Amino acid sequence: MKPTFLNKRHWSSKAIFKQISDSGWVNPGIDSKYKEFFLADLVSEYDSINLYHYLYARRPKLSSYFVQYLDLWFADEKNHADGFLELNRLLYDMSEESILEKLKARKSNFEHFEQLLSNELSLLTVFAYDEYTSVKTYKKDTFYNDFGNPLFNSWISNLIADEATHFANAVKLLRRNHLSNTKEIENTLRQIILLESDQYENTFLLDHDGPHFLLGSADFAESTANEVLAIITRPQK
Ligand SMILES: [Fe+2]
Ligand SMILES: [Fe+2]
Repeated sequence: MKPTFLNKRHWSSKAIFKQISDSGWVNPGIDSKYKEFFLADLVSEYDSINLYHYLYARRPKLSSYFVQYLDLWFADEKNHADGFLELNRLLYDMSEESILEKLKARKSNFEHFEQLLSNELSLLTVFAYDEYTSVKTYKKDTFYNDFGNPLFNSWISNLIADEATHFANAVKLLRRNHLSNTKEIENTLRQIILLESDQYENTFLLDHDGPHFLLGSADFAESTANEVLAIITRPQK
């Protein structure tokens, strides 16, 4: 059988956290400062549902591979959100219902994104940029090594590998369908840099106001956009 064009990794956050819990794991005294941090990660991942629904009505007009991209991507982001929910329950004994109450109340506003989300080229460019940023930011989180079970690290490694796959799939589609229009990809990246300064409104994309980014450099948008463009336009062997 031929490999599929887009890639998807198959694994389960809930299964990993169940394994940790069933192993008799005892909390080694994980600092409560991570609670807000993990809640911010949870809502970041959870907001994929808002973007998925925003784009859902457009499916008939989108290409088949792009619709598949969205479906594969959303399944993964849901698995990531499940993982952060389990992490908060396990580490801090947080109430599942109170977290779910907060999640379901989240409202998004895509007003500033209308242009960016209006065609496949710019959608793929913003996905590439955003997923690349996710890989970079999650890679900074090495504290999972100190949580008292190697499965915490397996979990975040799986999550990072998914974000890298989302990036690679977006680049693959851009190269396949839009490489003759590099100028427009570049223009879109300029537009993304400007949008980064707007306040985050639960759109999943450009959620870079949270605690993860307090450590980031001021010009991270500019440098990330340059790196992403270089990868998209890199000559193929
Ligand atoms: Fe994710
Ligand atoms: Fe992702």
